[in-house]
Amino acid sequence: MSEHDSDSSNPESPERREFLGKVTGVVAGTGIAAATWPFISSMNPSTDVLSKATTEADISDIAPGQVHTVEWQGKPVFILHRTDQQIDKMRQSEGGKDPTADQKRVLEPNWLVVVGICTHLGCVPNRVDDGWLCPCHGSVYDNSGRILRGPAPRNLHVPPYQFVGENRLLIGQADPQRQRCERVDPDAAGDTFCVATNPNGKEV
Ligand code: FES
Repeated sequence: MSEHDSDSSNPESPERREFLGKVTGVVAGTGIAAATWPFISSMNPSTDVLSKATTEADISDIAPGQVHTVEWQGKPVFILHRTDQQIDKMRQSEGGKDPTADQKRVLEPNWLVVVGICTHLGCVPNRVDDGWLCPCHGSVYDNSGRILRGPAPRNLHVPPYQFVGENRLLIGQADPQRQRCERVDPDAAGDTFCVATNPNGKEV
């Protein structure tokens, strides 16, 4: 069996239904503790899901302005197909308390790929007009996944990923020519963030 998780992008697959059920539960929950991703994950860990190193996502049906959520290593990953206006706006700012140029956070300007877990205490942010709003303590992220307001200390993490073919993303495996990735905490498996680089390995 391939290590790629093509099942998670299939709307009929049991894994996807289970995953979306978890996310929906998180978003709909009113209790802060019940909305944190680690809590939900620990309630119902799937060894099969957690062991998958990569997720392959079909992005052909994501219209400009729309977000698609896939599961990678048991975590939600938001894939936003950005419009030209959204790109222009993001390129005019460096975000908030964790300033970063938008160019460093995307491999292609029209595609933003971020781990959908708030960097404060791990809730799953909800999509709003110009970004995401965390339902737990109100952190606000822009369309580059950068923290603008609220208690979250860091931008949403950019996972390792690469484009494979015209309409597919492989999440969990960086393109060494285009991304440099580091562990947030060297002792914590999985918590990785990446920045885009140019072909000689320098940050863009
Ligand atoms: S978990 Fe506290 S603001 Fe998101």
